[in-house]
Amino acid sequence: MTDSTEGTEPTDPTEEQTKRDLAARRGAETAVYQPAEDSALLASAVEKRGRGRLLEVGTGSGWVASRAARDVPEVSAVVASDLSPHACRAARERAVAGGVDGATVDEADADAAPAGAPPLFDVVRADLVEPFDDDAFDTVAFNPPYLPTDPENEWDDWMERALSGGQSGRELIDPFLGTVGRVLAPGGVALLLVSSLTGYDAVLDRVRECGFEHEVVVEESYPFETLSVLALTREAEA
Ligand SMILES: C[S@@+](CC[C@H](N)C(=O)[O-])C[C@H]1O[C@@H](n2cnc3c(N)ncnc32)[C@H](O)[C@@H]1O
Repeated sequence: MTDSTEGTEPTDPTEEQTKRDLAARRGAETAVYQPAEDSALLASAVEKRGRGRLLEVGTGSGWVASRAARDVPEVSAVVASDLSPHACRAARERAVAGGVDGATVDEADADAAPAGAPPLFDVVRADLVEPFDDDAFDTVAFNPPYLPTDPENEWDDWMERALSGGQSGRELIDPFLGTVGRVLAPGGVALLLVSSLTGYDAVLDRVRECGFEHEVVVEESYPFETLSVLALTREAEA
């Protein structure tokens, strides 16, 4: 794969091989995307900027959402969501195993909840932000499927949906940017992971079109791509 900040349309066999390698490292056998460098970068942005009610769109294994619930004191409640039922199940199991399952808190008398009790945690199967109320979240985090994929090489399975951003790499990013503002409370922030493979400048154009200011929260370069997490705030509020 080339490390370009321009939009790319990979079609050559080495790019397909890289994609298959990424899929293998990121959980092809489980159908659920396993935590990788991009997950860690998003988690570190959540540590820096996450607060209040947090939604993680496309939670995959639930690793980022569980860390937000467990390790970020400014976060008061977490919703982990994904289109994939396998991911939803994995996120729920991780939360329960990690002791961040809000169900135990829900059932308790609020006054009896021990000091330092974990924030409420819920898992919702959802297409992007579709089922959520207006102004519902103070923070929305998303590590989208972003690899540009030749339509002829699309894999019709859940790992494909976790990796592929369609031909442009931005087929999930564009609708996310077009709808996330609705669920952000006033003063809220969206944390969006962007890869150089996706066309950084094209993403920024869409960010501006959707009325957001951006700031780079964290960035890391790897041999095949540069990953950035952008903090997006509404223009008038920035
Ligand atoms: C790159 S993975 C990120 C997983 C996890 N957040 C992480 O950072 O490790 C992208 C995730 O988005 C999910 N996804 C794909 N399309 C979606 C959609 N339309 N709505 C919600 N989630 C979606 C995939 O199932 C996958 O779990």
